[in-house]
Amino acid sequence: MEKEFNPFIVSGYKGQQYFCDREFESSILKKNLENNINTTLFAIRRIGKTGLIHYVFDSYKNNSKIKCIYVDILSSYNLKDFTNLLATVIYNNFQEDNSIGKKIINAIKSLSPIISFDNLTGNPELSFKLNDTKQYESTIYQLFSFLESQNKKIFVAIDEFQQILEYAEKNTEALLRTYIQTLKNTQFIFCGSNQKMMHEIFNNAKRPFFASCSNLHLDYIKTEKYFEFINQIFSQNKRKINKQSIDFIIEFTGCHTFYTQFFCNYLYSSGIKNIDFTDVQNIALEILKLNENTFFQYRNLLTSAQWQLLQAISKEEKLYKAHSKLFINKYKLGTSSMISRGIEALLEKELIFYNTSVENPYYETYDKFLMRWMQYK
Ligand SMILES: Nc1ncnc2c1ncn2[C@@H]1O[C@H](COP(=O)(O)OP(=O)(O)O)[C@@H](O)[C@H]1O
Ligand SMILES: [Mg+2]
Repeated sequence: MEKEFNPFIVSGYKGQQYFCDREFESSILKKNLENNINTTLFAIRRIGKTGLIHYVFDSYKNNSKIKCIYVDILSSYNLKDFTNLLATVIYNNFQEDNSIGKKIINAIKSLSPIISFDNLTGNPELSFKLNDTKQYESTIYQLFSFLESQNKKIFVAIDEFQQILEYAEKNTEALLRTYIQTLKNTQFIFCGSNQKMMHEIFNNAKRPFFASCSNLHLDYIKTEKYFEFINQIFSQNKRKINKQSIDFIIEFTGCHTFYTQFFCNYLYSSGIKNIDFTDVQNIALEILKLNENTFFQYRNLLTSAQWQLLQAISKEEKLYKAHSKLFINKYKLGTSSMISRGIEALLEKELIFYNTSVENPYYETYDKFLMRWMQYK
């Protein structure tokens, strides 16, 4: 039997009808794109940055004057990788069955790429065999020029952009900034999860991208909006769920998009038609059990003091005053300097983050399921 389609998406983008809210953020993003403003989109992981880009790009799919290109550079370690990824996405975004597509594809072919095919997807992958960095630099420039020369507006999203800080070549930012400045029909979205690195690239006055873009911050989806969305999707699919159960899901997952989606996906896949509060609680326990192995792996990555601190932060949910006597004594966490070092390590390992998008900033555990699991321990 064919598996029933699950309307709670947990990977990739499947269409507007499965996408919750983000009306405000997408309107800003579109306004920027259409008015020649480059945007940086940075926010914590798994909140919906990549989803938002696809949602916005999807809205232009029937517009023949606009072409959207999305490239994720997480897997790249140098300019060569970057060039190959860029060439591949451009190549795959144009088809030879129309004149512009043909022109672009021919232009790319004139750079003599090696074209291979991905084993899993069968999609073409391009790579270049060039002698030195300078040649890669000029190839990037040519790729952007091909795009520019079409009679279209081009919107390019570079996801996990902070990765360029890892490149062997240290001038990548300056190089890209220089090229981007010369483009007239091409607008960019720079997206990234690592707050510290993204801040370094865009908010450090000594770096090339400083003050070159408009910042867009992505916060948790409003609970009322998520409530409506969950309710609607279940009822559209002939499932019954009550208010208490939806409230529980949102609370349990902290309304952190991936975790909320995952919970609903799991609940949906259980096949229960008439969902009651006990079902939802059982599902919560099942999910924690399912993830237990991952949680134990986290523990192996940490010292026992770090683990204890993470547990304390999880129990607090929102830790406003990490150095208060009250907090330190409550969980017997040692000295204030131990807390400082512990927090540093947990931030570095991305097990917690510092939420600064509110009036009173606080520390919070990244993984909402880990947070709940630690609370029960
Ligand atoms: N607005 C949304 N409505 C429903 N699902 C979403 C929404 N935004 C993101 N998702 C889903 O949540 C998960 C995490 O989102 P993603 O965009 O990958 O986060 P990020 O890029 O910030 O790490 C993905 O599975 C995605 O499909
Ligand atoms: Mg992403």
